[in-house]
Amino acid sequence: MADSIQNALGTTFGFVVTTSHRPSARIVEGAQDLAAHFNVPFATRRDLSLKDLAQLTCAEALLVVSSKRIKFVMEEKEFFFHPGLARPRIKDIRCGNTDRMIKVMSLRAGESVLDCTMGPGADIIVASYVSGDAGRVTGIESSPVMSELVRRGLLSYEDDDRDISEAMRRVNVVNENHKEYLSSLKTGCYDIVYFDAMFRCPRRMSSAMNAARMLANHDPIDCETIELALNVAARAVVMKERRGSGEFSRLGFENIAGGNYAPVAYGIMER
Ligand SMILES: C[S@@+](CC[C@H](N)C(=O)[O-])C[C@H]1O[C@@H](n2cnc3c(N)ncnc32)[C@H](O)[C@@H]1O
Repeated sequence: MADSIQNALGTTFGFVVTTSHRPSARIVEGAQDLAAHFNVPFATRRDLSLKDLAQLTCAEALLVVSSKRIKFVMEEKEFFFHPGLARPRIKDIRCGNTDRMIKVMSLRAGESVLDCTMGPGADIIVASYVSGDAGRVTGIESSPVMSELVRRGLLSYEDDDRDISEAMRRVNVVNENHKEYLSSLKTGCYDIVYFDAMFRCPRRMSSAMNAARMLANHDPIDCETIELALNVAARAVVMKERRGSGEFSRLGFENIAGGNYAPVAYGIMER
């Protein structure tokens, strides 16, 4: 019964959309809309556990709509939108502390950032906070499920901190492969073009990132993409990777910023 979707690992998993237990009419309608969006079946939850529902519908994964969130569930791992580390990072910036990514980008209010690997969205929320009302931030994400869950989350998540909610609302999400998107853009149309691809050798991760890995595109970035990014960037292309990663030299980054003990480093190519 489950329809299938190809994830970026090249494997195909079947998924259906359902709801939490005893959903309101609005939740059911939202879940049916989401099923139509992905062109997959909607399954009524009844009193079934998620495991039983998955078995009954032959689904490997479920998208579960509730009043609080939309959750992707697969192999006992789950992913849902949450601002995550963006919250403490923004609070730190407000206290006058330095955020490494923002420092490396030398990002100022009113500037524009194109995040080519948006994922769960923490980095783009922080960039949006700093670039502010007069800035412009776009997140590209090739995974259809990840980009839709994050797009909806950025639009609807109500943080107690108004600045954080507003920063989330300003993010424009594009579901596309960054290479194609970059090749459609004009020269110099974003101040900063940013990459944070899936690490070639992953570190130990939070359970949210573990679940996100199942949805994510794991393809390495290619040199042609960096060339396209250099054309689109008015100021710099910035790439985050593991400290000491061979990706920096493979892609031509010579200027690397990163503390001696920090697990990640940033490669910078200035225009
Ligand atoms: C490590 S995550 C990014 C995490 C993000 N910087 C954050 O702060 O939450 C990398 C994301 O880039 C996406 N991605 C990888 N290759 C891509 C491509 N060619 N086009 C668009 N998105 C891509 C993956 O699907 C994944 O969600």
